[in-house]
Amino acid sequence: MAGKKNSDYISAKESRRISRENRKITQKYEKMRNRKNVPKEEYLTQMKDPRNVVEFDNLHTYFFTDVGVVKSVDGVTFDIPQGKTVGVVGESGCGKSVTSLSLMQLVQRPQGQIVEGSIRFNTGTEVYDIAKTPASEMQKLRGNLMSMIFQEPMTSLNPVFRIGAQVDEIIALHNKNMSKEDVKNRTIEMLKMVGIANAEGVYAMYPHELSGGMRQRIMIAIGLACNPKLIIADEPTTALDVTIQAQILDLLRDLKAKINSSIMLITHDLGVVAEMADYVVVMYAGRVIEKGTAREVFKDPRHPYTIGLMNSKPVVGKKVDRLYSIPGKVPNPVDMPNYCYFRDRCEFCTKECDGAYPGEVQITPTHVVSCYRCQEIKREENE
Ligand SMILES: Nc1ncnc2c1ncn2[C@@H]1O[C@H](COP(=O)(O)OP(=O)(O)OP(=O)(O)O)[C@@H](O)[C@H]1O
Ligand SMILES: [Mg+2]
Repeated sequence: MAGKKNSDYISAKESRRISRENRKITQKYEKMRNRKNVPKEEYLTQMKDPRNVVEFDNLHTYFFTDVGVVKSVDGVTFDIPQGKTVGVVGESGCGKSVTSLSLMQLVQRPQGQIVEGSIRFNTGTEVYDIAKTPASEMQKLRGNLMSMIFQEPMTSLNPVFRIGAQVDEIIALHNKNMSKEDVKNRTIEMLKMVGIANAEGVYAMYPHELSGGMRQRIMIAIGLACNPKLIIADEPTTALDVTIQAQILDLLRDLKAKINSSIMLITHDLGVVAEMADYVVVMYAGRVIEKGTAREVFKDPRHPYTIGLMNSKPVVGKKVDRLYSIPGKVPNPVDMPNYCYFRDRCEFCTKECDGAYPGEVQITPTHVVSCYRCQEIKREENE
């Protein structure tokens, strides 16, 4: 309509201006990252707590797109302790994958950039700040010390190469002086470890000859080929049916115990989290709104969103007319407001919630919530 401004509409001229500005910003970040011979002091640091493998500290990852800046991850802070499983849950689009991709430096570039905060990664001997680590150094960490298992195994395996060749390649890449024979033996050993009975047969097969569950096992074998300190599993079982899902989760748990690594488990499935995780982080619209031990978050959820999430989980044997669903939707990540993002959907919203984004309330040393209502309850408890 002529003369009337529509806030969702961007003119071609405006869009060009945004792209130009974005390019300026992203080029600056890319230049920093692609430098050669960066002195180690620039990216080596210290852990806050040496018992952690990863510490996300006020991480901001933005996408500079032609319609504006998407603040996918906007101030995320949480730890992954050594040998523990941390479950990350939250609605679709809340930034779970972008958080894990930031840790691997695999965010789509150049538009996706870490603009603030740090990610400390503990290799056991050194601590890297991933946000500052140059691309060349990152290759030594990725696959070797941290590895990722993706949602859809068929898209991660190459359809034209045999399984054996694909696992061999990874093992050979990370163990440069291993003989061909040793590499093959190691591959077969890995296939056996992930519970493939006919390992030698599968070694010579193509991906399409295997079932979804088998393919996911292969992906896990590839992910674990180098005994990583951290395994990131981004919805590892979403593409599988329930019985295979249970098997894959068992497998992950066994393997974790065997190589004593930590798991960052990203999922929509609260059942999976309850079964697997030691700690739970609940994300909403690019921020952590509640975190604590699995017991605390499941038994005593405090944030209205977490409470809603728990209520929307179906329970066997409990009769309900309709599953609970949280009203409203997640706010648009372009132009995020600076008040509690959940305010417009919240049943417990008070006048205080009109204020700035709520600070963190410490319920116990491990249980933290960002919510005005919880601040109030805590104040009353203290009085
Ligand atoms: N390459 C990209 N360019 C622009 N925006 C992106 C890009 N990748 C992700 N985003 C945006 O970042 C936000 C977070 O995405 P992310 O993939 O982390 O969500 P998620 O929590 O993993 O969701 P899901 O549960 O569906 O996997 C979304 O709003 C998404 O649209
Ligand atoms: Mg995702």
